[in-house]
Order: sequence, then C-alpha cells, then structure tokens
Amino acid sequence: MKIAVIGSGYVGLPTACGLASFGNNVVCIDNDPQKLTTLQSGIIPLYEEGLQELYETVKDKLTFTGDISSVKDAELIILAVGTPMSDDGSANLEYIFQATKDIKPYLQKDAIVATKSTVPIGTNDEIENIINRPDIAVISMPEFLREGYALYDFFNPDRIIIGTDNISVYNKIRDLYSSHIPAEKIIRTNRHSAELIKYASNAFLATKIQFINEISDLCEQVDADVSDVAAGMGMDTRIGRKFLNAGIGYGGSCFPKDTNALKYMADKHGVNLGLVSSTIKGNHDRRFNIANRVNKYISDIEGKARVAVLGLAFKNGTDDIRYSPAIDIIKNINHNPIYAYDPRAMDNARKELGPNVIFTETLKDCISDADIIAILTEWSDFKALEKESFAKKTLILDYRNILDEPTMRSKPNVIYKRIGQKI
Ligand code: UDX
Repeated sequence: MKIAVIGSGYVGLPTACGLASFGNNVVCIDNDPQKLTTLQSGIIPLYEEGLQELYETVKDKLTFTGDISSVKDAELIILAVGTPMSDDGSANLEYIFQATKDIKPYLQKDAIVATKSTVPIGTNDEIENIINRPDIAVISMPEFLREGYALYDFFNPDRIIIGTDNISVYNKIRDLYSSHIPAEKIIRTNRHSAELIKYASNAFLATKIQFINEISDLCEQVDADVSDVAAGMGMDTRIGRKFLNAGIGYGGSCFPKDTNALKYMADKHGVNLGLVSSTIKGNHDRRFNIANRVNKYISDIEGKARVAVLGLAFKNGTDDIRYSPAIDIIKNINHNPIYAYDPRAMDNARKELGPNVIFTETLKDCISDADIIAILTEWSDFKALEKESFAKKTLILDYRNILDEPTMRSKPNVIYKRIGQKI
C-alpha cells in the first residue's frame, strides 16, 4: 500500500517505519524545515529505542518531504500531528484541521484518511466535513504507543482500533496489519467510540497511578510499604500490577493533556467526571509536594548542601521532558546550584531550566560529594548507585523506588528513603 504520514514526531516516525517494515511505501510529510533536513540526512531527530536501527533497514521504502502534494499517490493518509493542550484544558486542533485543509486538494479517488492524533469526540466528523467528498473515508485509528517502547508497542499492540462504519474500509485497514498482528487484536467500532477509547484508556491509567500515589501517602503515615501493597493488589488479576508504581506523578505529552481534554469534553456535555478531575488535581499537586519534601531535607542539613537530581525526562527511555514532573520539581527546589543528570534528556532540559542547574557529563559527576541525591526518573541507569560507596553521609531519596532496598540500606553513610514508606 502507498501510505502518507503527516507529522514526523513520536507517533508519526515509529508508525511510518513500522508500516514500511511491513512492505509498504511510506512518505513522511512534515512542515518543520530543520527536522526535515535531519531526516533527509538519514538521522532520526528524536530518541526512541531501536528506531534509528529500524529506519536503516527500511529506508528504501521511506521518503521525507515538506511537499504536501506528495499525498496524491497515497491510498492511506495517516494524520499524526500534535494536538497539544490549550490554556483552557481542551485539545488544540489547529494543526489537525490545517493538515486536513492542506491535504484536501491532493487526495486521490477513494483515499482513506486515518486520524492517529488524539482528538476529541466528533473531530473526525469535522475532518469529514472539511474534506467533503463522498469517495474519501475518514476513520479514527487512535494510537497507544508508549514513548521509549513505541516500536515494541507497534509490533506487539494490545489492540488496534479501527473506528469506521464502512466495512470495506475496515477490511482494507485490517489487511494492512493482519499479516503481522493477530486478528483478534483488531477491532472495529464506530468513530466516536474509537475516539473515546483513547481518552478513556489514558484517563484510566492516569487514575490508577494517582490512586497508588494516594495509597502511598497513606502508607507513609501508617508504616505500610507501598511496594508491598502494590504487589499484593497487583496479584489480583482483575487489578493487575502494571501502572501501580508509586512515584512523583505522571507526566509526558499524553496523560496530562488527555485527562484535561476528557474533562473539558465531559463538562461541555454536562457530565461530571469527578474521578478524572480529582486525578488531574492530585497529580498536579504531587510534584509541588515532592519539591517541598526536598526543600525540607535541604533545610535540615547544616551548612551548604550539595544537591543532586537524577532524571529529567518524564519517564525512562525517552528524551522527552514535556510536563515532566522532574522539571517542575527542580524548578521548585529552592537551592543554588542543583546538579542534574539524565542519560537522554539534558539537551531538552537545558532549554527549560534556569542557570542554577548544573548539568553534569556523567552520573558519577552528578552524585560526587552530594549530601542529597533525589531520583526523579525511573532510568535503570540509576541502579548504578547500588554499586557506589559513599564517603560521607548521603541522603538518597528514591522517589521512583527503583533501587534494591536491602543493598541501599546496608551501605555505610547512606540514609535511604523510598516513596510510600514511613517518613
Ligand atoms: C502513554 C500511554 O501509556 C500510551 O498508551 C499512549 O498512547 C500515550 O500515553 P507515555 O506517555 O509514553 O504513554 O508514557 P507511560 O509509559 O504511559 O507513562 C506515563 C507517565 O506515568 C510517566 O510519567 C511515568 O513515569 C508515569 N508512571 C507510569 C508512573 O508514575 N507509575 C506507573 O506505574 C506507570
């Protein structure tokens, strides 16, 4: 199949490379000249595990261009542009509608336009109205790729949702995937359901995280251990262990945006999503609460403390700092300087953080001589601390509970604190 993907970001690029690896010819269209130059020189301009390597194997099937008229050869056009959060919490649909208007004059007869961008319920109806051609099918195909695991998720999806009432269009899209993905994972719904499945899934996962974070706060007061509580809860197959890792709250380009957009949508329809509203507020407050905790520990130290922060990305496996709790926490730690290290996200964080943050070349440089080390992102790289020895008294705040507890507790000079344990 000839496919065009509009938008070469965290969704568009893995999708394009994945579909090219199924044998399709894919043209990626993006309007950012700098990104295009990088892509045209054969470099993937974002960090995503395995993506550069996959690109090398499929590059004869992929082209990158800024020329929107290239959609003219495509049987399937995938919209994968951003739908960022507006100030009022709604999804900003400026880019998706612009892309729709841009492709409209070039669409070949019977082309299928599939929206992968996360869009509010009814957006695909509007896209259909803009295109206004009976031969063109507009379908909703929400993406569930996690950053850092996007290729794994592309090749091993839990489900592929195809939102359309048009059975022959459904069959065409199902055939695109069915040689590589088990048939029972591909389902058809109407367009509105498909749009809502994406929001409801992300809001549910966000709520699960907020739930365990609240339980974690309770654990700290009653001398329980949230890791044990999560393990015990997770053994119930109806609950499941995934997304029960207590920490500093969720971030990223999806959960914060999608929970807010869902609430906005529900408000508009007069429906009270109290649980989602509470999750949004609780998650927002959490990052400031964590910063205050760190501030308190700093003020307890006599003399000038050396403070090190490990982790800037919103989670491991990515260089993305969008809505990263780590960034907000650092901004709210009242200290100068703060030493910071992240295996991937330092270039992005440099643009966000003030001159009081010193970015170190290595993990070792960051923690060297530190009085306080706060772990804010769940990178496995930080498990290197288990092998370190500490010459002076060091408070290690493991706010992602990633280090081995007995090992850390046995270390001379280390005071080791985890999230969700008695403070
Ligand atoms: C998410 C969805 O998982 C994916 O299906 C969707 O398509 C896009 O949004 P992503 O934003 O890449 O993916 O990250 P995810 O792995 O879901 O983590 C989101 C945030 O929750 C991160 O900040 C992470 O650190 C945090 N998190 C996750 C926890 O705090 N605890 C957990 O148990 C799991």
